[in-house]
Amino acid sequence: MNINKKDILGIAELSREEITTILDTAAVMKKIIQGDNKKTNYLRGKTVLILFYENSTRTRVSFELAAKYMGADTININVSASSVAKGETLVDTGKTLNSMGADVIVIRHGMSGAPHLLAKHVNASVINAGDGMHEHPTQALLDMFTIREYYKTLNGLKVAIIGDIFHSRVARSNIIGLVEMGAKPVIFGPSTLMPSEIEKMGAEIAPTINDAIREADVVMGLRMQLERQKSALFPSKSEYAKFFGINHANLSLAKKHSLWMHPGPVNRGVEMTSGVIDGINSVINEQVTNGVAVRMALLYLLAGRESCRDVKQRANIISLPVQEVYV
Ligand code: CP
Repeated sequence: MNINKKDILGIAELSREEITTILDTAAVMKKIIQGDNKKTNYLRGKTVLILFYENSTRTRVSFELAAKYMGADTININVSASSVAKGETLVDTGKTLNSMGADVIVIRHGMSGAPHLLAKHVNASVINAGDGMHEHPTQALLDMFTIREYYKTLNGLKVAIIGDIFHSRVARSNIIGLVEMGAKPVIFGPSTLMPSEIEKMGAEIAPTINDAIREADVVMGLRMQLERQKSALFPSKSEYAKFFGINHANLSLAKKHSLWMHPGPVNRGVEMTSGVIDGINSVINEQVTNGVAVRMALLYLLAGRESCRDVKQRANIISLPVQEVYV
């Protein structure tokens, strides 16, 4: 199984089979990063450029680590110190990077659709690392990977997604992916932060936080995106925590071994209590680790195959014992 794509722009463009291929490949990559020697050669001779127009810790660093572990040359472009600050357009910046021989450009941008525009103008593969309020496909893939590791499947699971749904590209990508994989996303948040017609994507809106969490297999908090809110959409952080926060009391309604997730960065004591963030069922740190594995898998599937000289490696990485992955 392969993914015949130049770019990864959104979960909406991925079939169930393609998502499964990415998650299966990430499982191999996770074994690699858990070993003593994290370095492979799959992207030797390839160049990965990381172009972030918005702040990031997890996504930016994990893409950089993933590219390094795959043996690629990688450059992190500081947008504020680049010619973007002199007024260069996204397309011109992209064409410039393409002309320098970029094989993959990873982009985060505040405008929905920016990665799609870039992808049309460059030969390099483009990976969307978050575009405005639209999609964050690699976050949803790492979330689905994390859930699948515990439950072995996504099919039939109830996944409660709580918080600022309106501004959340993480929620959008997760809803699309979870529905495609047969899970049941149930969402809850302030009515001022609930997009109209979200049910058309396959999510159920719960009337209360308790209804959302009751019997859930997974409870996922979302970051409050104050930077995207043009006006105050809820009274205060303490009110938010009281009525929309995830805590041990409402989590007692979830299934006994439910997973507690958050894409980060988390506002402690607002979206989730500290006890939940650091609690026994929290997999927030595992999500971060899995982010590296998923991004390694995507780089491999987009740019790595042709660079694998060993025929066995080229045939199918997933069927190989881990030690044979090293070159
Ligand atoms: N989850 C996420 O996208 O985090 P960063 O903003 O730190 O990349």
